[in-house]
Amino acid sequence: LVLTQDELKKIAAYKAVEFVKSGMVIGLGTGSTAKHAVDRIADLLHQGKLKNIIGIPTSKKTHQQALSLGIPLSDLNSHPNVDLAIDGADEVDSDLNLVKGRGGSLLREKMIESACTKFVVIVDESKLVSHIGANGAMPVEVVPFCWKFSQERLQQLFYYSGCMAKLRSNGGENGEPFVTDNGNYIVDLFFKKDIGDLRAASDAILRLPGVVEHGMFLGMATTVIVAGELGVTVKNK
Ligand code: A5P
Repeated sequence: LVLTQDELKKIAAYKAVEFVKSGMVIGLGTGSTAKHAVDRIADLLHQGKLKNIIGIPTSKKTHQQALSLGIPLSDLNSHPNVDLAIDGADEVDSDLNLVKGRGGSLLREKMIESACTKFVVIVDESKLVSHIGANGAMPVEVVPFCWKFSQERLQQLFYYSGCMAKLRSNGGENGEPFVTDNGNYIVDLFFKKDIGDLRAASDAILRLPGVVEHGMFLGMATTVIVAGELGVTVKNK
Protein backbone atom coordinates (compact mmCIF):
# COMPACT_ATOMS: atom_id res chain seq x y z
CA LEU A 1 0.00 0.00 0.00
CA VAL A 2 1.54 3.28 -1.09
CA LEU A 3 -0.14 6.44 0.11
CA THR A 4 0.13 9.72 -1.76
CA GLN A 5 1.55 12.77 -0.02
CA ASP A 6 -1.93 14.28 0.09
CA GLU A 7 -3.33 11.16 1.76
CA LEU A 8 -0.59 11.41 4.41
CA LYS A 9 -1.45 15.08 4.97
CA LYS A 10 -5.08 14.11 5.46
CA ILE A 11 -4.21 11.38 7.97
CA ALA A 12 -2.18 13.86 10.06
CA ALA A 13 -4.96 16.45 9.83
CA TYR A 14 -7.71 14.05 10.92
CA LYS A 15 -5.58 12.88 13.85
CA ALA A 16 -5.11 16.52 14.98
CA VAL A 17 -8.84 17.19 14.83
CA GLU A 18 -9.26 14.52 17.53
CA PHE A 19 -7.90 17.20 19.92
CA VAL A 20 -10.80 19.53 19.07
CA LYS A 21 -13.58 19.55 21.67
CA SER A 22 -16.96 21.30 21.66
CA GLY A 23 -16.85 24.88 22.88
CA MET A 24 -13.24 25.50 21.82
CA VAL A 25 -11.79 28.53 20.06
CA ILE A 26 -9.69 27.02 17.25
CA GLY A 27 -6.90 28.59 15.20
CA LEU A 28 -7.44 27.40 11.63
CA GLY A 29 -4.17 26.96 9.75
CA THR A 30 -3.28 27.61 6.12
CA GLY A 31 -1.98 25.37 3.36
CA SER A 32 -2.71 22.05 1.72
CA THR A 33 -2.41 20.08 5.00
CA ALA A 34 -4.38 22.46 7.24
CA LYS A 35 -7.11 22.56 4.59
CA HIS A 36 -7.96 18.94 5.44
CA ALA A 37 -8.27 19.82 9.14
CA VAL A 38 -10.69 22.65 8.36
CA ASP A 39 -12.77 20.32 6.16
CA ARG A 40 -12.84 17.73 8.94
CA ILE A 41 -13.90 20.26 11.61
CA ALA A 42 -16.76 21.38 9.35
CA ASP A 43 -17.85 17.74 8.79
CA LEU A 44 -17.94 17.05 12.54
CA LEU A 45 -19.90 20.28 13.13
CA HIS A 46 -22.46 19.29 10.50
CA GLN A 47 -22.73 15.78 11.95
CA GLY A 48 -23.41 17.34 15.36
CA LYS A 49 -20.32 15.64 16.85
CA LEU A 50 -18.80 19.06 17.59
CA LYS A 51 -20.73 22.05 18.86
CA ASN A 52 -20.07 25.73 19.61
CA ILE A 53 -16.74 25.91 17.83
CA ILE A 54 -15.31 29.31 16.98
CA GLY A 55 -12.67 29.34 14.24
CA ILE A 56 -9.92 31.96 13.98
CA PRO A 57 -8.55 31.79 10.41
CA THR A 58 -4.82 32.37 9.85
CA SER A 59 -5.22 33.71 6.30
CA LYS A 60 -7.74 35.17 3.88
CA LYS A 61 -7.77 31.86 2.02
CA THR A 62 -8.64 29.84 5.12
CA HIS A 63 -11.21 32.49 6.05
CA GLN A 64 -12.89 31.90 2.68
CA GLN A 65 -12.76 28.12 3.04
CA ALA A 66 -14.15 28.12 6.61
CA LEU A 67 -16.83 30.65 5.69
CA SER A 68 -18.01 28.56 2.76
CA LEU A 69 -18.18 25.49 5.03
CA GLY A 70 -20.28 27.35 7.59
CA ILE A 71 -17.77 27.32 10.48
CA PRO A 72 -18.55 30.21 12.88
CA LEU A 73 -15.61 32.64 12.74
CA SER A 74 -14.06 35.35 14.84
CA ASP A 75 -10.67 37.03 15.31
CA LEU A 76 -8.02 37.72 17.95
CA ASN A 77 -9.55 41.07 18.88
CA SER A 78 -12.74 39.37 20.07
CA HIS A 79 -11.15 36.05 21.10
CA PRO A 80 -7.57 36.68 22.26
CA ASN A 81 -7.35 33.30 24.01
CA VAL A 82 -7.21 30.50 21.48
CA ASP A 83 -7.54 26.97 22.94
CA LEU A 84 -5.95 25.10 20.09
CA ALA A 85 -4.44 25.87 16.70
CA ILE A 86 -3.86 23.30 13.96
CA ASP A 87 -1.51 24.16 11.09
CA GLY A 88 0.97 22.67 8.64
CA ALA A 89 4.65 23.53 8.32
CA ASP A 90 7.33 23.50 5.65
CA GLU A 91 10.07 22.10 7.89
CA VAL A 92 10.13 20.60 11.40
CA ASP A 93 13.29 19.80 13.40
CA SER A 94 13.70 17.41 16.33
CA ASP A 95 13.10 20.25 18.85
CA LEU A 96 9.79 21.00 17.08
CA ASN A 97 11.08 24.28 15.64
CA LEU A 98 9.40 25.11 12.34
CA VAL A 99 9.79 26.94 9.08
CA LYS A 100 6.49 28.26 7.81
CA GLY A 101 5.32 30.69 5.16
CA ARG A 102 6.45 29.11 1.92
CA GLY A 103 2.78 29.20 0.94
CA GLY A 104 2.74 32.94 1.64
CA SER A 105 1.09 33.11 5.09
CA LEU A 106 3.12 33.63 8.21
CA LEU A 107 2.23 36.84 10.08
CA ARG A 108 -1.38 35.96 10.92
CA GLU A 109 -0.29 32.39 11.63
CA LYS A 110 2.37 33.57 14.07
CA MET A 111 0.00 35.99 15.84
CA ILE A 112 -2.67 33.34 16.32
CA GLU A 113 -0.32 30.45 17.07
CA SER A 114 1.53 32.45 19.70
CA ALA A 115 -1.82 33.15 21.37
CA CYS A 116 -2.94 29.55 21.74
CA THR A 117 -2.72 27.12 24.63
CA LYS A 118 -1.99 24.16 22.38
CA PHE A 119 -0.42 24.35 18.91
CA VAL A 120 -0.65 21.13 16.93
CA VAL A 121 1.45 20.95 13.76
CA ILE A 122 0.50 18.47 11.05
CA VAL A 123 2.97 17.22 8.46
CA ASP A 124 3.80 14.31 6.24
CA GLU A 125 7.22 12.81 6.91
CA SER A 126 8.89 14.70 4.03
CA LYS A 127 8.84 17.85 6.21
CA LEU A 128 11.19 16.45 8.89
CA VAL A 129 14.71 17.94 8.83
CA SER A 130 17.77 17.89 11.10
CA HIS A 131 18.38 21.67 10.78
CA ILE A 132 15.67 24.11 9.77
CA GLY A 133 16.58 26.58 7.05
CA ALA A 134 19.00 24.30 5.24
CA ASN A 135 16.55 22.88 2.72
CA GLY A 136 14.77 25.75 1.03
CA ALA A 137 13.41 29.22 1.54
CA MET A 138 13.18 30.95 4.90
CA PRO A 139 10.45 33.52 4.25
CA VAL A 140 10.65 37.03 5.72
CA GLU A 141 7.67 39.40 5.43
CA VAL A 142 8.81 42.98 4.75
CA VAL A 143 7.00 46.24 4.15
CA PRO A 144 6.95 47.16 0.43
CA PHE A 145 8.57 50.55 1.12
CA CYS A 146 12.20 50.26 -0.07
CA TRP A 147 12.01 46.47 -0.05
CA LYS A 148 15.36 46.28 -1.80
CA PHE A 149 17.01 47.95 1.19
CA SER A 150 15.50 45.27 3.45
CA GLN A 151 16.53 42.52 1.05
CA GLU A 152 20.14 43.76 1.05
CA ARG A 153 20.25 44.14 4.83
CA LEU A 154 18.92 40.59 5.24
CA GLN A 155 21.51 39.19 2.85
CA GLN A 156 24.33 41.08 4.64
CA LEU A 157 23.12 39.87 8.02
CA PHE A 158 23.73 36.24 7.00
CA TYR A 159 26.76 36.87 4.80
CA TYR A 160 28.75 34.19 6.65
CA SER A 161 26.03 31.60 6.04
CA GLY A 162 26.22 32.21 2.28
CA CYS A 163 22.77 33.77 2.26
CA MET A 164 20.95 34.68 -0.92
CA ALA A 165 17.92 36.94 -0.39
CA LYS A 166 15.31 36.97 -3.14
CA LEU A 167 12.08 38.94 -3.46
CA ARG A 168 9.21 36.49 -4.01
CA SER A 169 7.32 37.10 -7.25
CA ASN A 170 3.62 36.38 -7.76
CA GLY A 171 4.52 33.86 -10.44
CA GLY A 172 2.82 35.88 -13.17
CA GLU A 173 4.41 36.83 -16.47
CA ASN A 174 4.86 40.44 -15.39
CA GLY A 175 7.13 39.39 -12.52
CA GLU A 176 5.20 41.50 -10.01
CA PRO A 177 6.00 40.86 -6.34
CA PHE A 178 3.88 38.44 -4.35
CA VAL A 179 1.68 40.43 -1.94
CA THR A 180 0.74 38.96 1.45
CA ASP A 181 -2.68 39.13 3.12
CA ASN A 182 -1.33 42.14 5.01
CA GLY A 183 -0.25 44.03 1.90
CA ASN A 184 3.45 43.26 2.39
CA TYR A 185 6.15 41.55 0.34
CA ILE A 186 8.16 38.40 1.08
CA VAL A 187 11.93 38.11 0.84
CA ASP A 188 13.00 34.46 0.78
CA LEU A 189 16.37 33.65 2.35
CA PHE A 190 18.39 30.72 1.01
CA PHE A 191 21.37 29.61 3.09
CA LYS A 192 24.42 27.70 1.83
CA LYS A 193 25.64 26.99 5.36
CA ASP A 194 24.06 26.37 8.73
CA ILE A 195 22.53 29.55 10.18
CA GLY A 196 23.77 28.63 13.65
CA ASP A 197 21.85 29.78 16.71
CA LEU A 198 18.22 30.05 15.63
CA ARG A 199 17.11 32.35 18.43
CA ALA A 200 19.96 34.79 17.63
CA ALA A 201 19.09 34.65 13.92
CA SER A 202 15.43 35.31 14.71
CA ASP A 203 16.24 38.31 16.95
CA ALA A 204 18.62 39.77 14.37
CA ILE A 205 16.03 39.55 11.57
CA LEU A 206 13.33 41.13 13.72
CA ARG A 207 15.62 44.04 14.65
CA LEU A 208 15.96 45.16 11.00
CA PRO A 209 13.75 48.14 10.18
CA GLY A 210 11.28 47.16 7.46
CA VAL A 211 10.95 43.56 8.61
CA VAL A 212 7.47 42.65 9.81
CA GLU A 213 7.91 38.96 10.74
CA HIS A 214 9.73 35.83 9.64
CA GLY A 215 8.84 32.19 9.12
CA MET A 216 10.90 30.62 11.92
CA PHE A 217 8.46 29.40 14.57
CA LEU A 218 10.75 28.60 17.50
CA GLY A 219 9.51 26.77 20.58
CA MET A 220 5.89 27.37 19.61
CA ALA A 221 4.61 23.93 18.61
CA THR A 222 3.37 21.86 21.55
CA THR A 223 2.65 18.77 19.42
CA VAL A 224 3.74 17.62 15.98
CA ILE A 225 1.78 14.90 14.20
CA VAL A 226 3.78 13.19 11.47
CA ALA A 227 2.10 10.90 8.98
CA GLY A 228 4.38 8.46 7.17
CA GLU A 229 4.15 5.24 5.21
CA LEU A 230 4.60 3.27 8.42
CA GLY A 231 1.96 5.12 10.43
CA VAL A 232 1.35 8.23 12.51
CA THR A 233 3.78 9.55 15.12
CA VAL A 234 2.78 12.11 17.74
CA LYS A 235 5.67 14.12 19.18
CA ASN A 236 5.12 16.32 22.21
CA LYS A 237 7.33 19.12 23.48
C1 A5P B 1 1.49 28.82 4.74
O1 A5P B 1 2.23 29.80 4.16
C2 A5P B 1 2.39 27.99 5.53
O2 A5P B 1 2.93 28.51 6.65
C3 A5P B 1 1.95 26.57 5.64
O3 A5P B 1 1.63 26.24 6.94
C4 A5P B 1 3.07 25.76 5.17
O4 A5P B 1 3.56 26.35 4.00
C5 A5P B 1 2.67 24.32 4.93
O5 A5P B 1 1.86 24.21 3.82
P1 A5P B 1 1.46 22.80 3.19
O6 A5P B 1 0.63 22.10 4.20
O7 A5P B 1 0.68 23.16 1.96
O8 A5P B 1 2.74 22.10 2.89
